[in-house]
Amino acid sequence: MKFDKPAGTNPIDRMAVVGRPTPRIDGPLKVSGKAPYAYEQQDVPGKPAYGYILGSAVAKGTISAIDTTRAERAPGVLSVVTHRNAGKLGKGRMNTAHLLAGPKVEHYHQAVAVVVAETFEQARAAASLINVDYARESGAFDLAAARAGAKDATGSDAPTSVGDFAGAFASAGVQLDQTYTTPDQSHAMMEPHATIAAWEGDSLTIWTSNQMINWGVKELAATLQMPPEKVRLISPYIGGGFGGKLFLRTDAVMAALAARAVKRPVKVALQRPLIPNNTTHRPATIQRIRIGCGSDGRITAIGHESWSGDLEGGGPEAATQQTKLLYAGANRMTALRLAVLDLPEGNAMRAPGEAPGLMALEVAMDEMAEKLGMDPVAFRVVNDTQVDPEDPSRPFSQRNLVRCLEEGARRFGWNRRKAPGQGREGRWLVGMGVAAAFRNNINGKSGARVRLDRAGGVTVETDMTDIGTGTYTIIAQTAAEMLGVPLAKVTVKLGDSAFPASAGSGGQWGANSSTSGVYAACVKLRDMVVGKLGFGPGDAQFEGGQVRVGNRVADIADAAKGGELVAEDTMEYGDLAKTFQQSTFGAHFVEAAVDRYTGETRIRRMLAVCAAGRILNPISARSQVIGAMTMGVGGALMEELAVDKRFGFFVNHDLAGYEVPVHMDIPHQDVVFLDEADDKVSPMKAKGVGELGLCGVGAAVANAVYNATGIRVREYPLTLDKYL
Ligand code: MOS
Repeated sequence: MKFDKPAGTNPIDRMAVVGRPTPRIDGPLKVSGKAPYAYEQQDVPGKPAYGYILGSAVAKGTISAIDTTRAERAPGVLSVVTHRNAGKLGKGRMNTAHLLAGPKVEHYHQAVAVVVAETFEQARAAASLINVDYARESGAFDLAAARAGAKDATGSDAPTSVGDFAGAFASAGVQLDQTYTTPDQSHAMMEPHATIAAWEGDSLTIWTSNQMINWGVKELAATLQMPPEKVRLISPYIGGGFGGKLFLRTDAVMAALAARAVKRPVKVALQRPLIPNNTTHRPATIQRIRIGCGSDGRITAIGHESWSGDLEGGGPEAATQQTKLLYAGANRMTALRLAVLDLPEGNAMRAPGEAPGLMALEVAMDEMAEKLGMDPVAFRVVNDTQVDPEDPSRPFSQRNLVRCLEEGARRFGWNRRKAPGQGREGRWLVGMGVAAAFRNNINGKSGARVRLDRAGGVTVETDMTDIGTGTYTIIAQTAAEMLGVPLAKVTVKLGDSAFPASAGSGGQWGANSSTSGVYAACVKLRDMVVGKLGFGPGDAQFEGGQVRVGNRVADIADAAKGGELVAEDTMEYGDLAKTFQQSTFGAHFVEAAVDRYTGETRIRRMLAVCAAGRILNPISARSQVIGAMTMGVGGALMEELAVDKRFGFFVNHDLAGYEVPVHMDIPHQDVVFLDEADDKVSPMKAKGVGELGLCGVGAAVANAVYNATGIRVREYPLTLDKYL
């Protein structure tokens, strides 16, 4: 099915199941420990051996010698795989560095060897017996130092410019020119990257933890230089990803190589201390923002430049993305500048681009409002736009930013906000902050298969994943709504490359895209049902387990009397996203308190108001947003990979040293969804919300801390040492 014009009325609009608060159907399995994650899969043919990965001890250089003899003789060891015996390996399109080092080393903790043994402990013990000699080379590890040599990013990340930014900024009555920095960050998901691999002849089955099944199959086939048809990837439950599992990682490759070497299944989990340096991270940024305004508070010039680094061949952190679209202003420029760094490879982490970009832009907006003597909410409202400011011929498909800000201000008690440094409660300095939330909406081609059995049961199959987001539930809701059956009649099977290819989970496109694919397959199945029942043409109603056309009625199960009905389709998209800019909006409000003697910051209250199209399931959507708000507090106050600039690695590479918020850090959160349905986006009329929830939170925290203390810190995270 192709979606190339705005959606008319359709069965989803009934909202009898879709849009209703529905507890997640996989919840009981998860809380009772019965949902099998990658490392625990039991369907494996034969008893798996255990792999343990050895990571490179240098950031850049070559392996000059590697001696595995002692490890090979250690108790229980079956094999040691290194670049010398791994066979010829390719590289997937999406990996910047290779997933097995040797002889070249491209980054710290790049996999150098996998030891395979009967038990995990034996593999770990033997790994310590491998001797590796490195010829270390010097590298570039300091973004600030490499900034001067950075180059403009290209393609869709190339600089943009409209009007005369330099002239308009120079002549603006009120000017702001500030620089903000955000650090490298780690996804820190609960479940590590993990895989069990098993070969049957030249066919490979991989049980893994991966957000994107279809990409994973192609990338693994390219890496192992085998046909993708011979790879099956299974990933039904995922303990968090945040973008860290969008791409093929070394656990899958090393498990496959190890299983081939020992001729039996092998399981490999990346050890936690390896994850931050071995896998991807969100790159640090340096962002310069310039805003020029008239005394009426209207923006006449807005410029945003961002510097970030990556390995040669990598990409930038697209921190200027929202600045192209969020506020009006006739004269504007954005530029992403990329430096080559020899740190581990950077890539997407939840809301890549907008999350760190808004941490700068929305503080700059707060600073500018103060210069203008305007309320920060009013300043944003004055500069709203209903069209793409870089191309005014493109309206937004739907944009309710102003409502989010105003509704949020009213609910949060924004009018009680005091001047900076004026809010006091004993030793606590108390303040409020606001930031706009913005994240683009992306639709991805997505397929599904739907089966109707003779008992009226419906089974949905798609390679879509559930990374803890609630996919199982919203897909079941969609099928139940489309076919007019109770939710209990629907079984959802996900995360298997044997099923139709979906959009996968990433970029907050998962919910809308995957349910749209299910919608398409259900439209086909509805036609088949009507045909089988011998009902003539007409408007078919599917409701209460029955099908009705005119005055003819039958049970839906009757259509499958002669055998199961199976329909499969893929939702594809035309050019509507070119005609209409599709984005999601919100407003974050935060109340923070700072201890005036110790600098300790506590968050007191948070509110998010989101405008993100139709909300498919208010429970799982709310969970997404409160999780994202929590992550935003971490980004503002705690999260930072500390770079060792001499040796080129992230020092705090475990969950003890890489701090994220805990329950005590987040006392009160509230989430409000505006009642929207965006007909330009998909037949579901839904958009993404999981990343929107993070966008702007960091700035709202920073603005609240400024309002509390009167001290503006422009270097994240806002740790107490920066206030004393
Ligand atoms: Mo997201 S960073 O695309 O998983």
